[in-house]
Amino acid sequence: MKKEFLLLSAALLLCAGCSSSITYKDASAPVEKRVEDLLSRMTREEKILQASQYICGENDNVNNIIDNQTDYPAEIGSLIYFGQSVEYANHIQKNAVENTRLGIPVLLGFDVIHGYRTIFPIPLAQGCSWNPEMVRQCCSIAATEAYSSGLRWTFSPMIDIARDPRWGRVMEGYGEDPYATSVFCRAAVEGYQGGSLADEGTIAACLKHYVGYGASEAGRDYVPTDISDQTLRDTYFPPYKAGVEAGAATVMSSFNTLNGTPTSGSRWLLTDVLRGEWGFDGFVVSDWEAVMQLIYQGVAKDKAEAGKIALEAGVDMDMVDWIYRDNLDSLIRSNAVKEKTLDEAVRRILTLKFRLGLFDKPYTEERPEAERFLLPEYRETARAAAGESMVLLKNEGGILPLSCDTRVAVVGPFADSPENMNGNWTAKGRSSDAVSILSGVRKEFSNIVKTRRAEVVICCIGQPQGATGENCSYSTIDLPEDQEKLVIDSKKAGKKVVVLLTNGRPLALSRIEPYADAILETWHLGSEAGNAICDVLCGKTNPSGKLCITFPYTSGQIPIYYNRRPRSRNYDMGVYQDITIDPLYEFGHGLSYSSFNYSEISLAPVEGGKFEAKVTVTNDSKVDGSEAVLWFVSDPVCRISRPVKELKFFEKKMIPAGESREFVFEIDPSVDLAGIDAAGKPVLEKGDFIISCGPRSATLSY
Ligand code: GLC
Repeated sequence: MKKEFLLLSAALLLCAGCSSSITYKDASAPVEKRVEDLLSRMTREEKILQASQYICGENDNVNNIIDNQTDYPAEIGSLIYFGQSVEYANHIQKNAVENTRLGIPVLLGFDVIHGYRTIFPIPLAQGCSWNPEMVRQCCSIAATEAYSSGLRWTFSPMIDIARDPRWGRVMEGYGEDPYATSVFCRAAVEGYQGGSLADEGTIAACLKHYVGYGASEAGRDYVPTDISDQTLRDTYFPPYKAGVEAGAATVMSSFNTLNGTPTSGSRWLLTDVLRGEWGFDGFVVSDWEAVMQLIYQGVAKDKAEAGKIALEAGVDMDMVDWIYRDNLDSLIRSNAVKEKTLDEAVRRILTLKFRLGLFDKPYTEERPEAERFLLPEYRETARAAAGESMVLLKNEGGILPLSCDTRVAVVGPFADSPENMNGNWTAKGRSSDAVSILSGVRKEFSNIVKTRRAEVVICCIGQPQGATGENCSYSTIDLPEDQEKLVIDSKKAGKKVVVLLTNGRPLALSRIEPYADAILETWHLGSEAGNAICDVLCGKTNPSGKLCITFPYTSGQIPIYYNRRPRSRNYDMGVYQDITIDPLYEFGHGLSYSSFNYSEISLAPVEGGKFEAKVTVTNDSKVDGSEAVLWFVSDPVCRISRPVKELKFFEKKMIPAGESREFVFEIDPSVDLAGIDAAGKPVLEKGDFIISCGPRSATLSY
């Protein structure tokens, strides 16, 4: 196949290089002209199939069972490609390009959420790194590996704000803060899409699940959400607006009903806001069967009505339920739907295919997997990313790092569990590629013993990777009793206890916290998990992660998040009668082996009506370490009741032992002090604002 492929590619490149008499085949013609030319040649059936997506291969998402399908029409617009064979991907393309009337290539997409074959930490862990550049690098490598298998589209980044850790999909996003999620969203889009969508190794991004899916009532999937316009505007919308501004090529409409209207049937969301307000010019794909689900959500009497509602709302491509294929022709013939509405959807889809270079270069070079996956530099990036994503929650008496000759026992269900290191949504990642905790520890620690002989017991507890992800809601975030018992008994046996958490959601740790000398949140770290965890245990890596999501004291506190609006009686009322209202570990919590001292904040006006907030952070330890400085703004008096504080900027720097570094937050009042009201209008009133970072705060009078 390789020789034939090369000849074919050469022929195509020759064609692409020369101008064709057929405009849409002319690589030198502007994309807009090629799109219009092609659209004008298409039959209605061809257009309807372009607006349809199906699957190819064995669907490994247990929530969306479809048999191994190969009977999709060659004219299909897109396929979710579950294979990883680049040869088969070329076979699919060849069939579309050579065996159909117009030769329109298929857009192959897949859920590349935190890596394709090299698996990086779950996004919730990456959000604790406070290192957007690292996120960009991970997404760039994921794109390169995915591209090498013929993919040109990923259904990522997931940017749903999550405040309820009972919800399993909290692992897929970057936590509870809109600003942080916006920054990581931009980094992910840049990582996937690179400088140009036509470049080799780049793939189209997809902002999902638009919008409000993370507010699912009681933390359950597929249920309705009720979010005020105010909270939509200041909490759930910002990451999507940021992703659109970053040039994300696609958006996925979500499963949830939002304030009585399913998002996949909401013209206000999919057209008025997304396109009218934010200028999104890519295309919208529904989530899996979300068009058909309009029937279950009670807004469509049948499939035809569901298809009409979705298309007219702004869903350009229908994922796998064949509603568009089976209903749009008759809807148009009966004038229930205008053909120009379909044309607009297909125009957007074709535009992306041209921008991706699919028409001029539909085939992918066929290289052996060993040349494409898990390259040493990819593993290095994965190890570094894992090292930055861990959060040291407790380190009593500085028990960590351990010297490598310490007699340690490594116990618990995740001690030697490579099948639980990758996390959910692992694309083509394999457990056999992942380094377990014990495998990692063995490389540095020479004295691994039974618990009885151990000085330190390392308890590897948490949740398996299948406990988080889609349709993985739990009524409680408590640890299993046997795991709590393991920690408590180890302590009662007179041992030093280090708890390593392997999990994809915040867990309730208040019962074990008193018995643990150290608690290290290791999340699901991916292919290099065990090596990265050992690096932290032995001090090769100084932990620098800080929580991007609150750890509740108990499940009963949920929902609990830092950027809450103030309550009406904020003294000793509005509290629980049985437990504290404070979380166990708050947003931004994270310890280091270094110790960082913050100077007072200095504030000064600078030109352009802006201000500069400065703080000097000193590492007064003997250990080099990195510190992420998170800057918050509070607006105590405003015509809308704003969150008690809001993250507005962050920056991470390595500070050598004994040295200091200055951190500057340039405050643009229209961006950093302003709020937004329920109608989406900025709100900026004169008055005092509190600027805070670390233990310091200062008042800015504006
Ligand atoms: C799933 C998920 C979505 C994913 C899609 C395709 O149900 O909700 O995140 O991208 O289907 O697998």
